[in-house]
Amino acid sequence: MKHTVIKKILVCKPLYFATLNYAINPWMKPGTIDGKKAMQQWEELIRIYKDLDVTIETIGQHKGVPDMVFATDQGIVKGNTVLMSHFRHPERQGETKYYEKWFTDHGYTIHHLPKHIFFEGNGETYFWNDIIFLSTGYRSSEETPQVLEQIFDREVVPVHVIDPEFYHLDMSFLPINKETVFYYPEAYDEQTQRILKERIPNLVEFSRGEVEGFAANSVVTDHHVVVQSGNKTFEEKLHKLGYEIHPVDLSEFKKSGGGIHCLTNILE
Ligand code: ARG
Repeated sequence: MKHTVIKKILVCKPLYFATLNYAINPWMKPGTIDGKKAMQQWEELIRIYKDLDVTIETIGQHKGVPDMVFATDQGIVKGNTVLMSHFRHPERQGETKYYEKWFTDHGYTIHHLPKHIFFEGNGETYFWNDIIFLSTGYRSSEETPQVLEQIFDREVVPVHVIDPEFYHLDMSFLPINKETVFYYPEAYDEQTQRILKERIPNLVEFSRGEVEGFAANSVVTDHHVVVQSGNKTFEEKLHKLGYEIHPVDLSEFKKSGGGIHCLTNILE
């Protein structure tokens, strides 16, 4: 089995995350975040990445953009180019300028989508073998699949989500390696379920409890999986597949509908 190894990531230090004062997905609980606890949880995630020999690049958070902590949503990095996201909700649109500056300062070439196209980066896409899975239904625009297909010169397979709890692909879908993908079938329409069965040789179901425990928001590097703690059944499934588990509790970030994968933008 071939494994991808993550060498370098971009993360955002959650300096003002607790100021969250809006809700744009069903998980969000504005006004309930413990900022100190969130920082400790985030630091624990960073410690795990360092133990796994991942190089960490950090951007500081700015005031007024609490969801800026979710680095993966900001854009797709390929080599030294970045395709910047265009957030659907005005509440998140202010994040982009800070990331754009960071990428420019660090030598990346920036690409933007046409103004009317919404797209939320790795939150809603997975590059897998020679295709791209993109979630549709809540955040991306109707034209986003064709636009991405042209930009990346790859087939885009739309994953049509029908439940707002799974607004981003990384809430219900997790490629583990080149053959195996975990998914939560009830999050998608019937056509999507059929297509996924056709395209993925080893498709493994998440249970309702697992997706509610944010198991889909894990990060896989080599034979290691960083998982939200408390997902025993998911951990057992991963063990059987030969993976080593690194649990971390990100309960404060769950109050904005985010977890491990959301906080992690893979640079290399
Ligand atoms: N509150 C944020 C939003 O609704 C959470 C984003 C989490 N990111 C993710 N990749 N699932 O946009």
